[in-house]
Amino acid sequence: MSNEHLVIFDTTLRDGEQSPGASMTKEEKIRIAKQLEKMRVDVIEAGFAIASQGDFEAVHAVASEIKASTICSLARAVTADIERAAEAIKPAERSRIHTFIATSPIHMQYKLQMQPEQVLEQAVKAVTLARNFTDDVEFSLEDGSRSEHDFACRIIEAVINAGATTINIPDTVGYGEPGEYGAMFKRIITAVPNSDKAIFSTHCHNDLGLAVANSLAAVMNGVRQVECTINGLGERAGNASLEELVMAVKTRHDLYPVSTNIDTRHIVATSRIVSSTTGFPVQPNKAIVGANAFAHESGIHQDGVLKHRETYEIMRAEDVGWNTNKLVLGKHSGRAAVKARFEELGIHFDTPEALNEAFTRFKELADKKHEIFDEDLQTIVTTSTSSPFD
Ligand code: KIV
Ligand code: ZN
Repeated sequence: MSNEHLVIFDTTLRDGEQSPGASMTKEEKIRIAKQLEKMRVDVIEAGFAIASQGDFEAVHAVASEIKASTICSLARAVTADIERAAEAIKPAERSRIHTFIATSPIHMQYKLQMQPEQVLEQAVKAVTLARNFTDDVEFSLEDGSRSEHDFACRIIEAVINAGATTINIPDTVGYGEPGEYGAMFKRIITAVPNSDKAIFSTHCHNDLGLAVANSLAAVMNGVRQVECTINGLGERAGNASLEELVMAVKTRHDLYPVSTNIDTRHIVATSRIVSSTTGFPVQPNKAIVGANAFAHESGIHQDGVLKHRETYEIMRAEDVGWNTNKLVLGKHSGRAAVKARFEELGIHFDTPEALNEAFTRFKELADKKHEIFDEDLQTIVTTSTSSPFD
């Protein structure tokens, strides 16, 4: 089976931030972007530059700091948005403009109040303009999964001719079903005459809990970019979760004809950083990154795992960054062990003073608690006066 590259497009900093209550400061976005870069995410959607001065500055700062990932800004298919996005991503070594317009009958009639021909014309104009700033332009058909087939094909053919290099067909409202959504990609990729000139992409919301399943069905039908977020953060019920998608493809490489660049050992640390930054806790039974994801409670399971790990474990905890050396941190722990655990969580101290302060606070807390967990370490640094995150 051929093993094609699956582009991982992370939108934690844009669609993830659209979760009510999850908005992030520039410094927080930089911190998360650095972690995503460390994980070798291909494309980081850093924000929606026109949304606010703060978001413009955040996208600009991420574009200045990150070298290994492509930095992307979202833009509606209008001139002002595209020019603002282009300005924000200017410092990036590799940059992308992601422009979109809705293409479903309900969105065109009620939201845009435009005729399909006007939408098509505006989409082509937007992509043509965006190509003046970067040769990496993504076009999204918002509410694409509820769009009419022939119209979707016409607009896709036209925007590819105008220079779009990635075509994203989102399941904006999480209405899709895996069989149907996958078949839609197959039909469209087959019908569009120049479909081989672009990478097709999926972007799924989780309203029916199907975001990851729908994304994987799309991959099975020719899609080679998945848009996702850490911990599945995102509008309403969230987006497809990066960690679930990446580990599904990796664990079931016998099924999926693709592989990713992701260094999965950083997944847990990234999940913790996103959770502590946004204040959105990770449920204990969340796949891959939940506290119980690799815990075995029942006697039968424990017995099985002790005899042979693979009786009940389909992945290795350490492959996604769980600390399996069972080093318990408490009041007897020394500075080296505490520093090492911080580093496993992706937290590095720039100065000895910052480490000293964190270690002092660790000891104070350890006097009050039997065991110090990762969450406690996160709290120590996010509330510290010399936080490594500032
Ligand atoms: O859900 C959606 O359709 C989006 C687009 C802007 C890509 O987030
Ligand atoms: Zn979305």
